[in-house]
Amino acid sequence: MTSSGLPVLVHCSAKRPSISIPSSPKFDDFKGRLSSAFKPFLKEIQQLPMRMDVAVKDTSLKLVDAFVDSVFQIVDQPLIPSQSNFAPVDELKEAVQVTNMQGEIPDDFPEGVYIRNGPNPIFGALTSTSSMFGRTGSVWVEGEGMLHALYFCRGHDGSWTVVYKNRYVETETLKLEKHRSRHSFLPATEGDSPAVLSAYLLNLMRFGKANKQLNNTNVFEHGGKMYSVAENDKPQEINILTLQTLDDWDVNGAWNRPFSSHPKKAPGTGELVIVGVDVMKPFVVLGVISADGKKLLHQVDLKLNRCSLLHDVGVTPRYNVVMDLPITIDLKRLVRGGSLFKYESDGGSRIGVMPRYGDADSIQWFKVKPNCTYHLFNCFEDGDEVKSWPDHGQISSICHNCSVLLHTPLEPARILSSLTDIHWECSCFNLEQVVMWGCRALESIIPGPEKGENKFDWFSRKLRPIKSSEGSIDEESEDQLIFPRPYEWRLNRKTGDVKERNLAGTEFAMDFPFINEAFIGLQNKYGFSQVRDSVASSASGMAKYGGLAKLYFGEQSPESYLREEQGLIKVEYHMFEKNTFCSGSAFVPKDEGVDEDDGWVITFVHNEDTNTSQVLIIDAKSFTSKPVAKITLPFRVPYGFHGAFMQLVLAIWFLDSLQAMFPALSHVVVIEL
Ligand SMILES: [Fe+2]
Repeated sequence: MTSSGLPVLVHCSAKRPSISIPSSPKFDDFKGRLSSAFKPFLKEIQQLPMRMDVAVKDTSLKLVDAFVDSVFQIVDQPLIPSQSNFAPVDELKEAVQVTNMQGEIPDDFPEGVYIRNGPNPIFGALTSTSSMFGRTGSVWVEGEGMLHALYFCRGHDGSWTVVYKNRYVETETLKLEKHRSRHSFLPATEGDSPAVLSAYLLNLMRFGKANKQLNNTNVFEHGGKMYSVAENDKPQEINILTLQTLDDWDVNGAWNRPFSSHPKKAPGTGELVIVGVDVMKPFVVLGVISADGKKLLHQVDLKLNRCSLLHDVGVTPRYNVVMDLPITIDLKRLVRGGSLFKYESDGGSRIGVMPRYGDADSIQWFKVKPNCTYHLFNCFEDGDEVKSWPDHGQISSICHNCSVLLHTPLEPARILSSLTDIHWECSCFNLEQVVMWGCRALESIIPGPEKGENKFDWFSRKLRPIKSSEGSIDEESEDQLIFPRPYEWRLNRKTGDVKERNLAGTEFAMDFPFINEAFIGLQNKYGFSQVRDSVASSASGMAKYGGLAKLYFGEQSPESYLREEQGLIKVEYHMFEKNTFCSGSAFVPKDEGVDEDDGWVITFVHNEDTNTSQVLIIDAKSFTSKPVAKITLPFRVPYGFHGAFMQLVLAIWFLDSLQAMFPALSHVVVIEL
């Protein structure tokens, strides 16, 4: 999601909802209207099975469809020209070889596949409804998920073959929509409260789900399998070669609730830490899945008293790090006439640190300044002494007990993977601080404006550049609040103290952070993020990312030093050509790499002037230099959310498959210098 790429739909289980609905004049009026409108259909509705079943085409469903058709008017939400690359594309029938390239794919680039997920709306996304209950509207993030994949395959002679493919994530709701071949789910995220609630209930009655399964936000690997995921349902396993959707991943039946978009592999064990947010209690459940993906090792209700939208979770060698922030989904608020989604800065913000297999009672909560943070760079454990700015741009803190851990970043991963038991005994793990780095804003970009305000105007105003010579945000100016900046929280487990600071100024908003994933949970030196083009974003009313940033966590910004502003770190930028914007950026580690930034940044970009989509490969060590390769795709790739590179040994058996598809395949990519 955009700080933004966040899926904002609500999962609802197949059970009928049982919420305590408060009485109010507004709600009584709504109940009256709902009751009279539904009365002719009530008997039929009550007999509907409350489960998803593609085959259900009985009279009852037709009657409810007739009710929806007669009551809800569907209105398209057209895109304006500057939003053209948010429009969906057709699904390709087969993979296509890509031969148009500038530069060269490096010899030591790993074989594998770069996959990006994103919304590709069909069947009613990008529509609004108006009815006797009021208006509801779609938000862009609600489109059905489509995967875009670029396969990098090295031939026997060392030459590269590059193949592009896209494919919808075939969820059960997409199958249902295809079967019906018509607008099915009513938009149930933003709009007038009675209209959102009636859409929510009608979706539930007709399809057993309040919203369609999006599966449009991220892709990840675990236990040798690849999954696509979005917040509002379980992940879908994907065949990495064909992009065919295989099945829901419920961890052998043990996990039966939504699954957040950014699960994290714990350092050392390789266990996967997940959270699942639901609109009904328990609101947030944390799980730990075995490294092979076959067993749910731990599952615990965090016992939050609100449905906080946890989009990301942090891990360290010993802890899970969870955010309880005041961006909430609340059905009671909806029936009282408020928004289903809302950010309330005075609602309290806190970060919880819990042992890997802890429970709600073992969470140590740290109250932090109000914020809305969707994405994390990383979390790690640190010593209690902080050196302000050590020489040579090394690190920002030192553990007295084990300097090796912090001075040689590649070592911890090796130690943890091979000598885990010994390392747990090492005193270097007497680290009192848990550090979290994320992209922090002061307001949520979703769900958008409150009732009555023009949506485009709101986003256009909120996304415009910040004019701040001091590098700070005016927290009194509401126009500056959805400006995400790299941020550090230091949580002292011994004293309970919290130290917070911005890591970068206000020249660029930054989001969609990523790192070398070998360092997840361990102190790292470099982070990367997408850089928002505030002018273009404001003009289109949609967040667009016109470049990339490389953050040096252990080095002070030279400009900051000159201005005597302590705390801001060094940042390098790689900006694209004019009117070119990226999505799905990821780090590709170099085989046999020594340094943390030995590797490449890979990203999808689209040039809106030429309507051309490319994949760029940028040397992470020479970040400001021009890309080492620009691969021009034969089809447009819309902007999307998160991407990942997964190494695969493709050369031997996959090339055979490719040759079957492309008899004339030469295994040589045409290089245009
Ligand atoms: Fe995300």
